[in-house]
Amino acid sequence: MKRQQNKRKIKITGSGFYVPPKVLTNFDLEKMVDTSDEWIITRSGIRERRIASEEQATSDLAVEACWKALNDARLKVKDIDLIITATSTPDTIFPSTACWVQKGLEAGYIPAFDISAGCTGFLYGMILAESLILNGNHKRILLTGGELLTKITNWKDRSTCVLFGDAAGAVVLEESNDESGMLSFYWKADGHLGDLLILPGGGTRNPASHETVDNDLHYLQMKGNEVFKHAVKRMGEAAVEALKQAGVKKEDIDYLIPHQANIRIIDATGRRLGLPPEKVYSNIDRYGNVSVASIPICLHELKEQGKLKKGDIIVMDAFGAGFTWAAVVYRW
Ligand code: ACO
Repeated sequence: MKRQQNKRKIKITGSGFYVPPKVLTNFDLEKMVDTSDEWIITRSGIRERRIASEEQATSDLAVEACWKALNDARLKVKDIDLIITATSTPDTIFPSTACWVQKGLEAGYIPAFDISAGCTGFLYGMILAESLILNGNHKRILLTGGELLTKITNWKDRSTCVLFGDAAGAVVLEESNDESGMLSFYWKADGHLGDLLILPGGGTRNPASHETVDNDLHYLQMKGNEVFKHAVKRMGEAAVEALKQAGVKKEDIDYLIPHQANIRIIDATGRRLGLPPEKVYSNIDRYGNVSVASIPICLHELKEQGKLKKGDIIVMDAFGAGFTWAAVVYRW
């Protein structure tokens, strides 16, 4: 069903991100596993990624991103009334990472909870925040996507360890008072394909034990080429369906901000929408796949580079573990 153009909307009033300073290049990886800079660039588009320190947990990254987003929105932490954290690499299974973020920000007793939706978590968070704001229950939501994937990476598995990095992004969301904001969304999941991208150990299916550790079940496992096929199909579908909902034509897109999993998936999604390369934003060469953090970082970079003009149509599009997939059409 097509949504009304004049409907109430939420908008992003501040954004920011944090990446740890330590850089791990493809050449560094050549010394760790049987791989090459050439293979990694050709197959994924990644040149380097950031690695958090031993002491850092996901909430530490997210808190830094939140301060930047608050600053960008010219708000104080007391102005926020809910914290949502999207992550697949929580500080602890419980309490939630959002509660650790609340503590880190000294945000008072405002509610805080996590969303687990793989790399799609940031968009799931935006979609949820829309309802929470438009139904009048919350005024300003701090949505953060933080991921510390290198702590669940098997550094002996060349098929996965070259892909991921650590980062966090954050946005402040509130009701829009003009034409800008979120125009539509599309979100889906398919639990039947969960095993293709999974952290098998440490949950109630395989509680942590010597055996789970001996069998490397505490590390991320991915059937990369299977995930690849689904990601290309589903990200195309999500974007097309969200555009239909918004009543926006492909030709009217100013920027596609795809989840940064692989440059070939990003390019394929751009082609599906008929977009020239300059309308498809990518920073995967610098950060690798940072899961939920990738879309808010791309958005903030586009903004910082002065590329976003008022009225521009942006499509944010993601796919991740679950499987989950979603797209949001947004007028800047
Ligand atoms: N260096 C050199 N060779 C390698 C490496 C490496 N790092 N990794 C794998 N290879 C080899 C394989 O062993 C295989 O060799 P073989 O043909 O002798 O068996 C060959 O390269 C091809 O392997 P594929 O896995 O088929 O390579 P593919 O072209 O599919 O690229 C990749 C792999 C980059 C992982 C790709 O499949 C991909 O990006 N998949 C999707 C990832 C994704 O979208 N994830 C979703 C979100 S992530 C999240 O939710 C946290």
